[in-house]
Amino acid sequence: MILSDWGREISSTKMIRPATIHDVPRIQEIINSHAELGRMLFKSLAQLFEALRDFAVYQDPHTGEVAGCCALTIIWADLAEVRSLAVDEAQRGRGIGRKLVEWSVEEARRLGIRKIMSLTYEQRFFEKLSFELVPKGSLPLKVWSDCVRCPKRDGCDEIAMVRTLLDVPVPEGVPVATPTPKGVSIPVLGHVED
Ligand SMILES: CC(C)(COP(=O)(O)OP(=O)(O)OC[C@H]1O[C@@H](n2cnc3c(N)ncnc32)[C@H](O)[C@@H]1OP(=O)(O)O)[C@@H](O)C(=O)NCCC(=O)NCCS
Repeated sequence: MILSDWGREISSTKMIRPATIHDVPRIQEIINSHAELGRMLFKSLAQLFEALRDFAVYQDPHTGEVAGCCALTIIWADLAEVRSLAVDEAQRGRGIGRKLVEWSVEEARRLGIRKIMSLTYEQRFFEKLSFELVPKGSLPLKVWSDCVRCPKRDGCDEIAMVRTLLDVPVPEGVPVATPTPKGVSIPVLGHVED
């Protein structure tokens, strides 16, 4: 909790809200500032508009400035992916990334989705948020659809991490996500063991 100008407590969830079209230039600025340093992929305005319903932003309650963003994309009945998680360089290390991932977790819970995944370089950060390292091949084929657009697809060094929400039941009556079939040729996976 932090205090507002009037001394009232503001809950962390209220600093996070669904993104609107007005946020898109700022979201792009934050993401692409990290992309320039090779930490994540560049996003075009077209990509951001298309995915905007998946996005939430962290808005500083004092300055009103958007300081971070995150998207939760549904992959399958029991799997969603944290994407485009980025915090303004000047605001890193203040708990904003954690709040954005917690928003993703609550969103997955609301949707009844049991597992959340991330493809990332930030192993320690995600471990602190109860994600565990998993083999890339354990994720479904659909996860790799974006890799064709990635310049690093032939030398991908991201790791896959998953958090299972044990309080969310396994969905009934819908197929759950299955691992990428063995033998499927996807550069990003390298050699998938039998
Ligand atoms: C990764 C990122 C989102 C973290 O956001 P943040 O606001 O700086 O992180 P937080 O302050 O919420 O950190 C939460 C915890 O993780 C730890 N942490 C954050 N980044 C870390 C790192 N790189 N290595 C180790 N620990 C880290 C913090 O120390 C904190 O630990 P604590 O709760 O014990 O104090 C942010 O650094 C960022 O935007 N990075 C560039 C883009 C990127 O890599 N995005 C991830 C793509 S999946």
